[in-house]
Amino acid sequence: MISEAAIWHDLECGSYQADLECWRTLAADYVGPVLDVGAGTGRVSLMLAALGHDVTALDLDDSLLTEIAARAAGSEIETVCADAREFDLNRQFGLIIVPMLTVQLFGGRAGRGRFFAAAAKQIAPAGCIALAIADLHDDGAGANGADAPRAERCTIGVVGYSTRAIAAKQRGNQIGIERRREIKAPDGSVEVRSATDWVDEVTAEQLEAEAAAAGLAIAPRRQIPATDEYIGSAVVCLHG
Ligand SMILES: C[S@@+](CC[C@H](N)C(=O)[O-])C[C@H]1O[C@@H](n2cnc3c(N)ncnc32)[C@H](O)[C@@H]1O
Repeated sequence: MISEAAIWHDLECGSYQADLECWRTLAADYVGPVLDVGAGTGRVSLMLAALGHDVTALDLDDSLLTEIAARAAGSEIETVCADAREFDLNRQFGLIIVPMLTVQLFGGRAGRGRFFAAAAKQIAPAGCIALAIADLHDDGAGANGADAPRAERCTIGVVGYSTRAIAAKQRGNQIGIERRREIKAPDGSVEVRSATDWVDEVTAEQLEAEAAAAGLAIAPRRQIPATDEYIGSAVVCLHG
């Protein structure tokens, strides 16, 4: 049975497509296995595996990885439940990707430093580590903007789920994306919950400086365009 974490994850991340071309291109550009860090329910891992790449999906939340295994449908995807700040898979990858803000969930500079140290040991000599960071102050779209994002809905069995980003708030150097989640029972009653994801503010320049301090070389950035629903991202690219 799908976990509630996976239901919310699918609703809140699953429809994002603007970055897929970037990950597809990077996977074609770099030879060797791909590590998807913070893979969630496999939005990117499943796409790359379907294209024939050898993909390992790593996440902290085992219930999300269970969905990847269930959805892989014949594609070989290894799943690893681990913290990206201290993983050791004892192998080297041609490409390590960190899509969709995930590097902004590592607990600030110290957490990112631990990730870079682990990733530097597991990137192949000619490989690439690519991290997407969102411009949290882009007020042209999404949770910050005048155009409030629409609710995402699904029904699982007889229970309805809906979620919508309703506000962005500041706490030190983090932005909180507040969501209103609703669960509608078969008798029509609705449980309302509030959930806030706290995301670290970090610039591409800061990330590159931190990576350089971990011995990684800086490669040209790539760009993911903003959409009506999602803010744009810079993709910081690093070589081992
Ligand atoms: C914004 S979601 C992105 C999911 C997926 N990559 C996508 O693009 O659809 C962030 C994911 O990172 C995972 N995550 C957060 N902190 C992590 C950590 N320290 N180590 C591993 N995974 C982490 C979360 O469990 C979640 O699945």
